[in-house]
Amino acid sequence: MVIGEHALACLLVGKPVTAHPMSSTPKSHGRLSISASLTPRDLMTPTPRLKGAWTAKILTLFPEVFPGVLGASLTGKALQEGLWAIEPIDLRIFGKGKHRNVDDTPAGGGAGLVMRPDVLGRAMKMAAKGTPEDSEKWPRVYLSPRGKPFTQADAERFSKAEGMTLLCGRFEGVDQRVIDHFDMEEISVGDFVLTGGEIAAQTLIDATVRLLPNVLGNQASTEEESFSNGLLEHPQYTRPAEWEGRKIPDVLMSGHHQKIEEWRRAQSEQLTQERRPDLWAAHVERDSED
Ligand SMILES: C[S@@+](CC[C@H](N)C(=O)[O-])C[C@H]1O[C@@H](n2cnc3c(N)ncnc32)[C@H](O)[C@@H]1O
Repeated sequence: MVIGEHALACLLVGKPVTAHPMSSTPKSHGRLSISASLTPRDLMTPTPRLKGAWTAKILTLFPEVFPGVLGASLTGKALQEGLWAIEPIDLRIFGKGKHRNVDDTPAGGGAGLVMRPDVLGRAMKMAAKGTPEDSEKWPRVYLSPRGKPFTQADAERFSKAEGMTLLCGRFEGVDQRVIDHFDMEEISVGDFVLTGGEIAAQTLIDATVRLLPNVLGNQASTEEESFSNGLLEHPQYTRPAEWEGRKIPDVLMSGHHQKIEEWRRAQSEQLTQERRPDLWAAHVERDSED
């Protein structure tokens, strides 16, 4: 990817960079600041954002895939309004030599390529500019299939931070020394192997951003969702009352709020028991402690 001199200059002096492609005027929720973009086509497009807005800095070889799906629907609207911000940082800029190489063969032999620590180190230092060192205030995450499984509790923790840095691996992953040196958390989005960390990063950001104030219209909806009380959510229905011969359960049409609550709770418990014995065991243990 060819990066313009201006973008490179911005990076080198530590100015914030974003690839947010939306340029329409946001609604005002507070003080706005302007960021330059790393992506050539958006280079001169000012990106307003609320001062102090939660920010995701993403180190990636594919900055153009951001915001991706995060630019749609409620997260996209909130991004446009400056309620949160995204700063993709193109790792290629930090690559070595004429071809801006970012990878090399694995020490000790074996298949594939590993992302170089010197290249990633420069990018991480750039990303760290203007961010708190305290990992509670600014978590640094390497997306990795061997990481700790991502949970709703992580999303809640990240949403209370000022922002976070996410390193997206490619090839065989990154040199271990980068993870150790920058004291990065390794987080996995599931027991499968993706080609790169970008989809995983979008998953983490989506789950986090929807917990930020004012991003979702109805805050109560996040409180009743799967995982927020340690259980899976009950089944949902809407009109028409009958579809393909299938009816909405009578209790939901009864208008009897207590019975509806009881039915939903029972469904929630049954589903959790059947589908997620691990969550159910944790729930039973919590209940016995209370
Ligand atoms: C092909 S994978 C590398 C897999 C690595 N060689 C291994 O076996 O653990 C390339 C990159 O995709 C990302 N990735 C793959 N699967 C992931 C998962 N389940 N969760 C989070 N990130 C993942 C990571 O950033 C990783 O560095």
